[in-house]
Amino acid sequence: MNDSNRPLAGLEEWEDFLKDRYPEPEATAKPFQATDPAKKKEQFRNYEADARPSVREFYRLNHRHQTYDFVESKRREFLPLARKQMGIWEALEFLNTLVDDSDPDTDLSQLDHLLQTAEQIRHDGHPRWFVLAGLIHDLGKILCLYGEPQWAVVGDTFPVGCEWSEKIVFHQFFNDNPDKNESRYQTRLGVYEEGRGLDSVKMSWGHDEYLYHVTKDYLPPEALYMIRYHSFYPAHRDGEYNYLMNDKDREMFHWVRAFNPYDLYTKSHQKPNLKELRPFYDELIKEYFPATLRW
Ligand SMILES: [Fe+2]
Repeated sequence: MNDSNRPLAGLEEWEDFLKDRYPEPEATAKPFQATDPAKKKEQFRNYEADARPSVREFYRLNHRHQTYDFVESKRREFLPLARKQMGIWEALEFLNTLVDDSDPDTDLSQLDHLLQTAEQIRHDGHPRWFVLAGLIHDLGKILCLYGEPQWAVVGDTFPVGCEWSEKIVFHQFFNDNPDKNESRYQTRLGVYEEGRGLDSVKMSWGHDEYLYHVTKDYLPPEALYMIRYHSFYPAHRDGEYNYLMNDKDREMFHWVRAFNPYDLYTKSHQKPNLKELRPFYDELIKEYFPATLRW
């Protein structure tokens, strides 16, 4: 794959940008301080202007190329799940061969990050399927190892085939998306029906949708929503696209929102003790998944 398709030094550059844009609520809310409107204004940051050039270029490519047709072609390519057969732990080890060089001050691997997320969820006393969702939620990033461009693996996801929410970051880059000239895709509902539900909506292509299809027969719906929509920031953080959702989506998004802080804010510099943790996670994986899955 051409280097112009890899503007980020690592996928984490996108996640670091998300953390800047969506700071941890507890860290910003100071209940005992009177609100000072002047201060609030001063603290307002223009995330687009402040973004690293690599992140900006990443979003430019993502918004330019994620068209309705592109999504359909990637779904045809990957959703038959005919690339590989592997178990969950094997997939974790495969993902671990994806080396990020964006974070020089840690030597934490993809697996370390996933274990940190899962361990924090376990520590907070959540159900076992929630812990498991934490462990595997980014496994779809193996798309990168198939040679897919970064902008077709990560990025805040959004529906294709209808108008783009103004809340989507770097919205102006959609001006170069060919769907801009397709009038049927440029209305509020586009090709969809009001309130029909997200299952009927095609999302921009990436690791979330791919892993949902790999795991959909094995996990409870709450965990599947976490996996499928964890990058759908315009909806779970900004409340957009409510009109495409049905009641089940709205109920399940409670879980997507419960998951988000673990996804964004649990990364620490402490390396998890793999040897100590492995038996617990082997057991947990066995509880829900067969020995091999189709990828
Ligand atoms: Fe992710």
